[in-house]
Amino acid sequence: MNTEDFRPEKEVKVFYPPQRVLMGPGPSDTHPRVLNAMARPTLGHLDPVFTEMMEEIKSLMRYAFQTKNRMTFPVSGPGSVGMEMCFVNMIEPGDKVIVCSNGVFGGRMVENVERHGGVAVTVNDKWGEPVDPQKVEDALKKNPDTRIIAFVHAETSTGASSDAKTLCEVARKHDCMTIVDTVTSLGGTPIKVDEWGIDAIYSGSQKCLSCPPGLSPVSFSERVTDLVKNRKTKVHSWFMDISLLLNYWGSAARTYHHTAPTNALYALHESLLMLAEEGLEHSWARHRYNYEALKDGFATLGMNYVVAEPYRLPQLNSVFVPAGVDEKEVRRRLLAEYSLEIGAGLGDFAGKVWRFGLMGTSCRVDNVIFCLNALETILSDMGLKVERGAAAAAAHKRYATNPMF
Ligand SMILES: Cc1ncc(COP(=O)(O)O)c(C=O)c1O
Repeated sequence: MNTEDFRPEKEVKVFYPPQRVLMGPGPSDTHPRVLNAMARPTLGHLDPVFTEMMEEIKSLMRYAFQTKNRMTFPVSGPGSVGMEMCFVNMIEPGDKVIVCSNGVFGGRMVENVERHGGVAVTVNDKWGEPVDPQKVEDALKKNPDTRIIAFVHAETSTGASSDAKTLCEVARKHDCMTIVDTVTSLGGTPIKVDEWGIDAIYSGSQKCLSCPPGLSPVSFSERVTDLVKNRKTKVHSWFMDISLLLNYWGSAARTYHHTAPTNALYALHESLLMLAEEGLEHSWARHRYNYEALKDGFATLGMNYVVAEPYRLPQLNSVFVPAGVDEKEVRRRLLAEYSLEIGAGLGDFAGKVWRFGLMGTSCRVDNVIFCLNALETILSDMGLKVERGAAAAAAHKRYATNPMF
């Protein structure tokens, strides 16, 4: 065989991605400061300058999660790896776990429990509704041998937010540990790991942190460390075993575990620094501020929310597609004509719902106005009766009455 036989069939050139506006369920746009940080010289992953930066990442992450947990670090892998890391370390064969399921990601947690030999007791809530703490309480009464409660704080498939504080209280009352998915909430809506008593938490870099995908910030309480230390069986994953990883992320005398994605970590460092500079409260308020304006614009287009107001995530807006509208064609035109990406509905919501993300650096006044104008033009073009200019005007009106920014 000749090496030429393996040449690509089509001519391959340098890849220049188009400049999009990412307003779907994630990833969101990466901030230019973060992109610049990624382009800095690669360091060895045991270089003392690099390991000093790792310490800063850990302390910035403690701020973002509001925790003093020693075991707070980014996992080299997307949110799904953060999720798996929690389950693989905390579950031993036969352990009973209550999993709250009110969308796609709760369903993935069930898969995780079962694949790691646990017994999943599922507490179901309707898609678009938050997890009901009373149902969890009832399930605990029926299953007093439950060891862990797992739930998604911000369900990206529906836009529903669950009451993490109350769910953690319920867990504590029954002497259970908690695993909490905050992939879509970190930086966008309040998370208070220590105050709420969360045991294991994971997130993703690509949503409200304005960072590219591929890293998963995680944090574990001392209760989790003790649990892992006292396991009867070995953790069923070498890569994700937190006691081994700690030799790299946890101690001053760092030893090789895996080659950390150095430039991706510069990006996370920059994005967490930006979050600290902005301040958590300000970031949470900014997400709400832009949501209010987008919501008012949607109302003029006859677009109704899937989730009831008190449980809505400002950073993930799920709305029903107006009757008679070809939802796929709208998304196609937004991308082709405006370079604007929005998300489709998943599962039961496929074809019926759009998901608009307002996450991280994508969560801006100009994006809200741009998105409403683009949507209104396309919907009007497609024959929907809309008052031209009304959507952006409604958003502007909301901004004018909110003195915050
Ligand atoms: C709530 C939630 N959990 C987990 C994940 C998985 O994260 P990733 O796609 O980074 O693996 C996502 C991704 O969108 C998510 O929204």
